[in-house]
Amino acid sequence: SPGRVVVVGSFNVDHVWTCACLPRPGETLAGEYHTGPGGKGFNQATATARAGAATSFVCALGDDIGGQLARALAVADGIDLRDLRSDAPTGTAGIYVDAQGRNSIVIGPGANAALSPAFVEAQRALLAGAAAVLVQLESPGDAIAHALRIAHEAGALAVLNPAPANATVAGDLLALAAAITPNETEFSGLLARHHSEDIAADSVAGMDDARLHALCRRLLPHGSVVVTLGAAGCFVSHAASLLRGDTHPHYRVAAQRVRTIDTTGAGDAFNGALVAALATAASRPFADAVGFATRYAALSTEHAGAAASMPQRADVVARFGA
Ligand code: RIB
Ligand code: NA
Repeated sequence: SPGRVVVVGSFNVDHVWTCACLPRPGETLAGEYHTGPGGKGFNQATATARAGAATSFVCALGDDIGGQLARALAVADGIDLRDLRSDAPTGTAGIYVDAQGRNSIVIGPGANAALSPAFVEAQRALLAGAAAVLVQLESPGDAIAHALRIAHEAGALAVLNPAPANATVAGDLLALAAAITPNETEFSGLLARHHSEDIAADSVAGMDDARLHALCRRLLPHGSVVVTLGAAGCFVSHAASLLRGDTHPHYRVAAQRVRTIDTTGAGDAFNGALVAALATAASRPFADAVGFATRYAALSTEHAGAAASMPQRADVVARFGA
């Protein structure tokens, strides 16, 4: 259907402890606890739906309370859920957040590990009819690759958020994406693994634009790269042959200043809002979609939780203007 986004990825029940500092081996700390829906796939699907795009979410869930939570939330947000029912428990994430907002995460993939190329293939018509397909690396690589391949063949915008940073991406997976959205750590990791380029993650934001653009071009010669830089905003780099409505092949977009209380899922907010804007207003410049995503992600950090912190499109407009 016109403007539809299909997100293929993970659902986790997040268990979050906020502590003064992250625990070291052998240490026991007390922290403030909360639980809520998460997983990069579900966070992004919640963001695309709340940002205003008709959304389908392809995932794998257990036959348990976590799976029931995902189904209930999908109904509440009007997300068309295409879930493979697994015997494994629904995915979980244990998240420690320190006073500076840094986190350490342990994922229990559970049912997410059951997402398969065959199940993705069963959704072929949905994927092929979408305006955009958005995937991450918290699900099995072969299933993700299959979703990108269907999108690529059908002419849907195929977007890969190469997160988390330690996940490996096959080179041919990258080539199937029309756009990728790494953060600084993921950008540095992809350059090291695919091009033996040794770029420190903390040097990316301050790097000269021409150099950053050249590195993006090496990573995805025929596509667009959006490097997210946290509080420094983001850097956009397009192939010269495909500017996607922009006037410049590379530029920066500043972040909004907000009262951040929790950055968990901020990257997911950015990805969901970006793809929703690209899918629903395809004739507008890419830079407009990036601007909306920047505002959307900033607002998400003023609320606790991952999927639960995703704002509605109207909230973003009310706060920052249209
Ligand atoms: O990107 C944030 C997400 O990463 C959390 O919701 C957690 O589930 C992990 O997957
Ligand atoms: Na948040």
